[in-house]
Amino acid sequence: MNSLKSIKKCLFPAAGYGTRFLPATKAMPKEMLPILTKPLIQYGVEEAMSAGMSTMAIVTGRGKRAIEDHFDISYELEHQIKGTSKEYYLADIRKIITKCTFSYTRQTQMKGLGHAILTGETLIGNEPFAVILADDLCDNNGLDSVLKQMVEVYEKYKCAIVAIEEIPKEETNKYGVVAGKIVDGDDRIYRVSDMVEKPDPKDAPSNLAIIGRYILIPEIFDVLENTQPGKGGEIQITDALLSLAKEGKVIAYKFEGKRFDCGSIDGFIKATNYFYEKEKKAGNV
Ligand code: G1P
Repeated sequence: MNSLKSIKKCLFPAAGYGTRFLPATKAMPKEMLPILTKPLIQYGVEEAMSAGMSTMAIVTGRGKRAIEDHFDISYELEHQIKGTSKEYYLADIRKIITKCTFSYTRQTQMKGLGHAILTGETLIGNEPFAVILADDLCDNNGLDSVLKQMVEVYEKYKCAIVAIEEIPKEETNKYGVVAGKIVDGDDRIYRVSDMVEKPDPKDAPSNLAIIGRYILIPEIFDVLENTQPGKGGEIQITDALLSLAKEGKVIAYKFEGKRFDCGSIDGFIKATNYFYEKEKKAGNV
């Protein structure tokens, strides 16, 4: 079955320090910060699974071993809770461990998101793949996940896809920003003509911001090899994608659903409150 699916692998850049959450992230990866009882990266993995992917490729760094342990069986814990009412708490993560494979590689130097994605080439190979930035947490209330929507767009256009949302113009300096033309009369789909990483509002080509969901084509690795450091002295995926956009190979997709910026305290708290209310309504907390 799986071999028929167009996108099988999902890459998770997870090497960043999470300085905004210090001291919590001093000895713990920021991707393991929980919204209620589930770490951010597990939400991401579940979204990738909902889009038909089962190979998770994670680019880690020093101090990130908790991620590997999370997606592995803990025999001691299993032994301890076997046959008790608490077994229920492990049901979801067990399912993930059974259905997916996880592979890891380390980014040894922090040279930006583009560099992290290039580091993941060894885990991806020569095929299209998805990228999830786990600190952008998306929820679709039981409808198709953002990544699933994007796979459908990919099936139609067979090029790189970035997820976008409208933001207040004064916030353009926090995001990659795109400009493009609506295609096929669908006001959710743009053929990208320009992309800028974190522009000042006065220089921004629009208020359409990239969120942490991408579908990339293997060509991106060659482009990244030749991409010079950009904003903040880092190798930016936005700059590499601009090269593909100039050849008409990037679509921006205005997704349906909710997205929380869990890389900021404000977004993290909003996500916590949102999921708490949702789970309470469902009788789960
Ligand atoms: C990264 C990308 C940026 C994108 C953002 C989405 O920035 O560089 O283009 O808009 O993710 O969350 P970061 O948030 O890692 O600084």
